[in-house]
Amino acid sequence: MDKDSLSALLFIREFLGFNEILVEREMADTVEKKLNELKEEVLKCKKCPLHQKKTNYVFGSGNPYARVMFVGEAPGADEDREGLPFVGRAGKLLTKLLKEIGLDRDRDVFIANVLKCRPPGNRDPLPSEIKACSPYLIRQIKIINPDILVALGRFAAYFLSGKDKIPLSKLRGRIMESVFGPKLLVTYHPAAILRNPGRMHEIKNDFRLLKKFLETEVGEGK
Ligand code: URA
Ligand code: SF4
Repeated sequence: MDKDSLSALLFIREFLGFNEILVEREMADTVEKKLNELKEEVLKCKKCPLHQKKTNYVFGSGNPYARVMFVGEAPGADEDREGLPFVGRAGKLLTKLLKEIGLDRDRDVFIANVLKCRPPGNRDPLPSEIKACSPYLIRQIKIINPDILVALGRFAAYFLSGKDKIPLSKLRGRIMESVFGPKLLVTYHPAAILRNPGRMHEIKNDFRLLKKFLETEVGEGK
């Protein structure tokens, strides 16, 4: 169902007491169906050379109806092996930071990356790879339609904010506009915190800001 028909149905529900479950089921069908169709597409992608050396594509995981969507850089060795995002050491830290603000990574958020295949030896993504792969991320954002995106690290931050000349330390720590619709919170990559634990209090502050945002902003029908 497209957004216009959905808002028409929501209007009818609101004013004529229409059956709520019908609307929600219709909505569920489209979000899950579209996300699965997109996943099928990614799982056979050959748009850049990264597919040749990967073990698994890492599409993303979590709740398709989440109000929060996290975006990392690219799969690492553990993610490549398991086909799931943020399952290695950085992922454990992310899971812990979420838990500390009362969020469960499977129930409350969706997690994806800018690149769906691992760059060899965890090197930085190339501009050509970001160009080839990012349309999938944009489609994930459109389908999931979260209230807020959280960019983990500079590749996600620059892509989602459209500001690539500003240091990460200046972009982080505030709720801003993304170029794709939802609000945006930029923070450090958990792997960078593991390398530089002195920044732990900053990432924790950013997560607290996320919590505050979720408590004070009313979700759009979620
Ligand atoms: N780092 C990322 O950017 N993404 C992952 O999925 C894991 C580590
Ligand atoms: Fe396709 Fe993205 Fe993998 Fe490149 S990194 S092959 S664009 S899924």
